[in-house]
Amino acid sequence: MIKLVEVGPRDGLQNEKIMLSCATKVQFIEKLSQAGIKHIEAGAFVSPKWVPQMADSAKIFKQLKKSHKLVKATNLSALVPNLVGLDAAIDCGIKEIAIFAACSESFSQRNINCSIKESISRFQLVVKKAMKSKIRVRGYLSTSFGCPYEGRVPVVRVEKLIRKMLELGVYEVSIGDTIGVATPKQVRALLKRFSQDERQKLLAMHFHNTRGTGLANVLASLDLDITTYDSSLGGLGGCPYAKGASGNLPTEDLIYMLHGMGLKTGVNLKKLIEISWWMESKIKHPLPSFLSKANLNF
Ligand code: HMG
Ligand code: MG
Repeated sequence: MIKLVEVGPRDGLQNEKIMLSCATKVQFIEKLSQAGIKHIEAGAFVSPKWVPQMADSAKIFKQLKKSHKLVKATNLSALVPNLVGLDAAIDCGIKEIAIFAACSESFSQRNINCSIKESISRFQLVVKKAMKSKIRVRGYLSTSFGCPYEGRVPVVRVEKLIRKMLELGVYEVSIGDTIGVATPKQVRALLKRFSQDERQKLLAMHFHNTRGTGLANVLASLDLDITTYDSSLGGLGGCPYAKGASGNLPTEDLIYMLHGMGLKTGVNLKKLIEISWWMESKIKHPLPSFLSKANLNF
């Protein structure tokens, strides 16, 4: 069974120009859950000045909490950059958060206004307090294969930061190709550094499809036994602090490939495609996914 983490409501929507209503976002998350998605990143407790689309995350979580069926069936999480964000998450009764550091200094400064070292110290406090509050913590590493400001990122640095994140106590590290530059050779080179390490099973891959290499990178990761992948419905997304970070790997394209390979996800693909069409009508532009444009009878 492959574990999929749907990041459309957060990583996807954070880059959309049109501000969606709280009701539409809640509906989006409910639809994803009804299609069988078990892990959904539903919002972010970040500064609304930095990411305006996430400003209503508290309202969304409070609304979602009212649906017992959804809460039972789905693991909902939120991005948290600091203790202010964690307190807001605790106030909403959240069970899982995600912290996010970067592999390049320029991106760290632009995304969270501090150095990598400062961010790790900050996250140490966040993880400690989250654990005391019985909140699970996932960790992201952005710009793991390339940075929009600094170019290629050395594999040795990424390996070190993955191990640092694990030391903080996160239950999983999602390795992010924030601007979609990775190729399978790079992915293999990084993952092989963990192939003799039992903590390999704590790694997840977060590919963006900006240059069309997303699925090829998943295939390379599958070959190295990675079973957790982040993706976003329709390929919604990007990062407001990484120019050219358009397009997370589309969830439906990923699932089509996985199911075709005989791997199980528990997701109803037809329902997912319908959500993609519905979302296009809300954001008022086409989504990059291939499957939602293809012949569904095949
Ligand atoms: P800062 O300006 O340095 O913060 O921003 P500060 O601590 O100096 O505080 C300034 C003001 O912000 C204060 O309010 C704080 O209370 C408030 P004021 O006194 O001026 O009224 N504040 C907050 N408000 C709400 N929520 C908070 C919060 N913290 C402080 N949590 C900060 C630092 C980290 C807050 C800011 O830089 C920020 O919010 N950054 C987030 C940017 C972001 O969300 N980027 C996108 C996500 S990363 C990504 O997409 C990559 C990923 O998907 C992986 C991949 O694709 O590879 C994860
Ligand atoms: Mg991303």
